[in-house]
Amino acid sequence: MTIRRIAINTGGGDAPGLNAVIRAVVLTALKRGWECLGIRDGFNGLLFPEHYPAGGIIPLGAAQVEGITTLGGTILGTTNRGNPLRYPQRQPDGSTIEVDRGDEVLARLAEAGIDALVMLGGDGSLTIAEALSRRGLRVIGVPKTIDNDLDQTVVTFGFDTAVAFATECIDRLHATAASHSRVLVVEVMGRYAGWIALHAGLAGSADVLLIPELPYDPAVVAAAIAARERAGRHSAIVVVAEGAHPVGGAASVLATEVGRADRLGGAGERVAAEITALTGKETRVVVLGHLLRGGTPTASDRLLSLRFGAAAVRGLAAGHSGVMVALDPPVVRYVPLALVAGRMRMVPLASDSIETARDLGICLGD
Ligand code: F6P
Repeated sequence: MTIRRIAINTGGGDAPGLNAVIRAVVLTALKRGWECLGIRDGFNGLLFPEHYPAGGIIPLGAAQVEGITTLGGTILGTTNRGNPLRYPQRQPDGSTIEVDRGDEVLARLAEAGIDALVMLGGDGSLTIAEALSRRGLRVIGVPKTIDNDLDQTVVTFGFDTAVAFATECIDRLHATAASHSRVLVVEVMGRYAGWIALHAGLAGSADVLLIPELPYDPAVVAAAIAARERAGRHSAIVVVAEGAHPVGGAASVLATEVGRADRLGGAGERVAAEITALTGKETRVVVLGHLLRGGTPTASDRLLSLRFGAAAVRGLAAGHSGVMVALDPPVVRYVPLALVAGRMRMVPLASDSIETARDLGICLGD
């Protein structure tokens, strides 16, 4: 089927580079004579068009994407709740059930004359894309997440920016930690994978680095800090992934809600309390949280995003569907969404980054 009109949507937590992908998709599509539309707030623009005065689907031309490569966030808006395939619906008795609104999504897209969808998302959104593809939607995914936890691609866009900013923050914290002879615990996002913590912790010369893939022993962490103390180094930087947990414990979850991923938080506070209890050292916690999602994308993320966006349109033009663009240096490949959906890429314990951390004397808590 010839493509005349495509739509783009952005789903899940925002990541630096989303706007650069949007720009590349739009310009590459326009070059082929295709029309481009943007869906507001994930799938909400399709499910609740009445909520949008300018319409839940907006035209995207060259003017709308001019100058957006450097902007953080997404000009389309996003949401990380309300998976259309498991949509939470309140019942009269106050309980919540999940309903499948996937066919409504397909009907809205068909009504709008949309021939294909470019879906920018992480694990949740790409799993939805895969399911909609099996129901007949022509769709191509673009791997987005600061967490870098998607399978089949060497890296996701947004990760480099998050790591760069986390590293800068750690750099700044070294001086204040040393001045006060304190332990500074820095909690970073990443969900159940330790990519951001590992990369920023290494680049920022952390003394202790705790990731979900390696459950830690609080006594080992305390011993590392005590050993520094004995060596005359009275401060320490402890980088903690939000999903990190002690041996035999679980990740620290702040909230669970039907239809959305668990909200993590508190891992840094837990580690800080353990350190204070076991060493007596004064300890402070800095939670970088959503700061890692904001800001202008790094040059590397911009380039990756532009490559991904243009490749997505080329892929559709070449007849690909039900696939995701993936970086497999030096090329961008198309991999089946079925190989990505529902999977999480963790830090391999045999990786050279882990070995490097150990060789540099960083305590990994194990
Ligand atoms: O997946 C991206 C991410 O930023 C995770 O690192 C984090 O756990 C989560 O989203 C936070 O989501 P929210 O925006 O709902 O707080």
